[in-house]
Amino acid sequence: MSLTRKLSDLKKRTKTAAEGGGEEAIKKQKAVGKMTARERILTLLDPDSFHEYDLFVEHAGKDFDMDKKYLPGDGVITGTGTISGHPVCVYAQDFTVAGGSLGWAHAKKITKIMDVALRLNVPLIGINDSGGARIQEGVNALAGYGEIFYRNTLASGVIPQISVILGPCAGGAVYSPALTDFVFVVDKISKMFITGPEVIKTVLGEDISMEDLGGARVHAEITGNAHFYAESEQECFDQIKQLCSYIPWNNTNKAVRFQSHKPLTKKYKINEVFPTLPRQPYDVRNIIRAVCDDSEFLEVHEKFAANIVIGFARMDGCTVGFVANQPLVLAGVLDIDSSDKAARFIRFCDSFNIPLITMVDLPGYLPGVDQEHGGVIRHGAKVLYAYSEATVPKITLILRKAYGGGYIAMCSHHLRADFVFAWPTAEIAVMGPEGAANIIFRNEIKNAENPEEVRKHKIKEYKEKFANPYVAAAYGYIDAVIDPNDTRDMLIHALSISADKTAGMPKKKHGLPPF
Ligand code: HXC
Repeated sequence: MSLTRKLSDLKKRTKTAAEGGGEEAIKKQKAVGKMTARERILTLLDPDSFHEYDLFVEHAGKDFDMDKKYLPGDGVITGTGTISGHPVCVYAQDFTVAGGSLGWAHAKKITKIMDVALRLNVPLIGINDSGGARIQEGVNALAGYGEIFYRNTLASGVIPQISVILGPCAGGAVYSPALTDFVFVVDKISKMFITGPEVIKTVLGEDISMEDLGGARVHAEITGNAHFYAESEQECFDQIKQLCSYIPWNNTNKAVRFQSHKPLTKKYKINEVFPTLPRQPYDVRNIIRAVCDDSEFLEVHEKFAANIVIGFARMDGCTVGFVANQPLVLAGVLDIDSSDKAARFIRFCDSFNIPLITMVDLPGYLPGVDQEHGGVIRHGAKVLYAYSEATVPKITLILRKAYGGGYIAMCSHHLRADFVFAWPTAEIAVMGPEGAANIIFRNEIKNAENPEEVRKHKIKEYKEKFANPYVAAAYGYIDAVIDPNDTRDMLIHALSISADKTAGMPKKKHGLPPF
């Protein structure tokens, strides 16, 4: 065969394989508002940067007439490309081919690109749109998932792993994302569940729609399985690119440094966004915006456990992870979900050399039977563990309340914060003045001629003594009480002098965080 004919043969084979499940299946995919797997990759990556591998891999199924079927690319596209000029490894499952189900060869393609990502130290982005283990392939499909989960675990903390859920993902198709660092979902398109509505109906007799069982909102708001929520696939890909601008490419690098930009102080003035009344709620995100570059804050897990805020911003051009109690929601308490949310984020930042700034304003851990029986002790301990274990620069700012366990947990000096600053409005105490006065002056109040007056007097006395930053500052637990208007300068200075921090942990195989 001449080279010309060989080239034309290659073209023909490539075209057939790249067509996926064919016209009808693609039409069905489009009808529900979904892009094709190939369009997704091309939208996500820099123009002309995608290079595909293993296009001609064929499936290995023999039973149930599978040997008579041709499954182009075995239902998954794999390759490399760039985002903002930086290399990434990527795969996208193709629902038009056997529902994106995962057979042995499909899994081999994914694990091969995962191995490349780990070998070359570049992020891995997986676009999931799959009915889970390919039923006809039996244990080989399960083996494939096991190999993926193992690699997800090996890669954890070494390269960033991002999962995008863009279809009905069932069974194994949701466990790999659960092992990765960030999960993105899109309204009406993403569904995640271990077993679908039909199985639930059969086993439990319960009726539930796919959307109510595991739709995008469910995972963004209730379960916390999704970190980012978008209204459309395009918005989702834009969010991924934005996230990639904040995180380093692997655990041996720092994130790319940008030009420093001042915050938009006309819009976000600390004096205006922070209330004068000590019990008035406010949106802590506006405090972050008042101090960070360009007032740009990429919030992670925005809809889940909103009593704590986590996300990325830049200070003097460098990426920082912010963790802040949110007084707007449940007074910013730590509870089961907010502890899980914060602890995981702290560990991501620590794994990938991202300094942490913690903003504190909370009355403590949330009391209640539900919380106690749900394991708030175990979950709350995750925050203590994550902060104690983190060796990246840790800078804490106490804005207002830092009571009880909350004071310790929110990156106090005792958990090895490098610097702890406080505004003059800070109150550091074992509990709020009202509760404290009621307990320690109980008898005096009870036996007084005018109990209410004595109670008020005792609260005032307690406030004057403890509800300020100066007692903690006198013991050196706070390094500086600062004018709120100096916050950005103080934070940038603290970050800059701790940039080359080297700190370690005792030698061990691994610790035992309270999972
Ligand atoms: C083989 C599958 C498949 C699967 C879907 N298909 N899932 N083929 N194995 N797991 C095929 C369908 O037969 C169909 O083929 C095509 O993909 C499209 O599927 P539809 O059902 O028509 O699509 P839709 O109505 O949108 O429903 C999507 C779905 C549903 C919700 C994902 O297909 C479904 O419930 N699938 C099974 C989910 C499941 O239980 N998976 C196994 C999980 S166990 P045709 O030829 O008709 O177009 C698992 C074990 C791992 O993953 C556990 C690890 C811990």
